Amino acid sequence: MKTAQRQLPSGPAPAGVHALACPAEATLKRELRPSQALAKLRARLAEAEQTLHAIRSGEVDAVVVAGKQGPQVFSLQGAEHEYRVLIESMNEGAVTLAVDKTILYANQCFARMVKCPLEQVIGNSFRCFLSVKDWATLLPLMKRTGRSGSKMQVLLNAGDGSQMPAQISIRLLARNGVNRASIGMVVTDMMEARRNEEMMRALSRRLVQAQEAERGRVALELHDHITQLLCAILVRSQALADQLSARDGPSKREAINLREMLGKTAEEVERISRNLRPSVLDELGLVPVIRDTSTEFAERTGLILTLACAQLTARLPADTELTLYRILQEALRNVEKHARARRITVSLRPQDAFVQLLIVDDGIGFDPDHHTAKRNGKGGFGLLSMQERATYVGGALNIKSAPGKGTTIRAQVPLIDSKCWGGGEKPH
Ligand SMILES: Nc1ncnc2c1ncn2[C@@H]1O[C@H](COP(=O)(O)OP(=O)(O)OP(=O)(O)O)[C@@H](O)[C@H]1O
Ligand SMILES: [Mg+2]
Repeated sequence: MKTAQRQLPSGPAPAGVHALACPAEATLKRELRPSQALAKLRARLAEAEQTLHAIRSGEVDAVVVAGKQGPQVFSLQGAEHEYRVLIESMNEGAVTLAVDKTILYANQCFARMVKCPLEQVIGNSFRCFLSVKDWATLLPLMKRTGRSGSKMQVLLNAGDGSQMPAQISIRLLARNGVNRASIGMVVTDMMEARRNEEMMRALSRRLVQAQEAERGRVALELHDHITQLLCAILVRSQALADQLSARDGPSKREAINLREMLGKTAEEVERISRNLRPSVLDELGLVPVIRDTSTEFAERTGLILTLACAQLTARLPADTELTLYRILQEALRNVEKHARARRITVSLRPQDAFVQLLIVDDGIGFDPDHHTAKRNGKGGFGLLSMQERATYVGGALNIKSAPGKGTTIRAQVPLIDSKCWGGGEKPH
């Protein structure tokens, strides 16, 4: 370790020790002219700054302060000293707060984050660096937080008027009697993480758009070509069956079977094409497509389905309609695949300035937090894609579920034109 020495009034200090002499102000005033006193004070200020810098950068093991009872040694050696060096060299802000939320200590990194000189940070209230809203959220969190700590995302107000996204990890440091706790905080710069998140969002949005375009193209191909061809073959096979007389026995039966198989194939192709991109969504809008999809689902699965859709008097934006339809589709797919439900309710209604789509099942339920965590590994993407789609149109998706308690999927998207809604809710 580098050492620094200062001359003590009574003699030299040992290596690695800073000595601070503190002659009284009165003595200075008595003995020196104003200009000399000013120069002397400047020199002392520079020395104090050097000493602080040396302490922060770990160059000093101890500080000697000259007092009335002679020089006193304050040791910085040992664990505390090492931690101080560590905290000063880390890339995250470190802050400790007094009970009244005054900043007792902050490292240089935090000062850089809030673009303020450290002298102006220490002694200030932490409140100065947060918006009113973030402060109102942080205060109760600080009261509640224990030694296990808690986290919060905030926007830090910097000295130059800019704002920086940050994560604050809060921990209780000491409790000296009731409500007299001091708080330790680690402040992490989230600018880079936020940028990456936005990039990922933009990328996945592009993917969804490309997927939608491709689905539309395939649906059109299926509808315009394959279905048409199948229909033509169906008509021919019907004609063939009609031409064969009862005497042709087995051949006639075979022709009838063939016609029925072709009919089923054409229906299945039509269903796949509709799922890929229902033309009725573009032509008639959201409510008819929700009705068709729900009816087809109930008939195919045998589940008891209750549908409640408020009447729309105008079309919602195409993006919003497609988003709500895709959310319904995935939710129904999940009910069929996982829920083992008996009953399901689908409803669409206005709620303040939002359109709300609810899909409720009485199935086995699941732990949504667990599945959100599992997604990083090999979990499915249905829930994630529902959430992302709702976010794209400025909305949100909420999943309420617990083992044995069924599942509720609530999608809320902004209702730009409230005139879209007609009279009361009409159950279908
Ligand atoms: N309605 C539900 N009832 C019970 N469990 C559900 C329900 N919806 C989702 N889950 C559970 O959540 C998990 C994640 O669902 P998600 O839709 O994200 O993936 P997936 O359906 O398994 O696969 P993918 O949708 O990608 O085909 C499911 O594997 C299932 O365990
Ligand atoms: Mg799924």
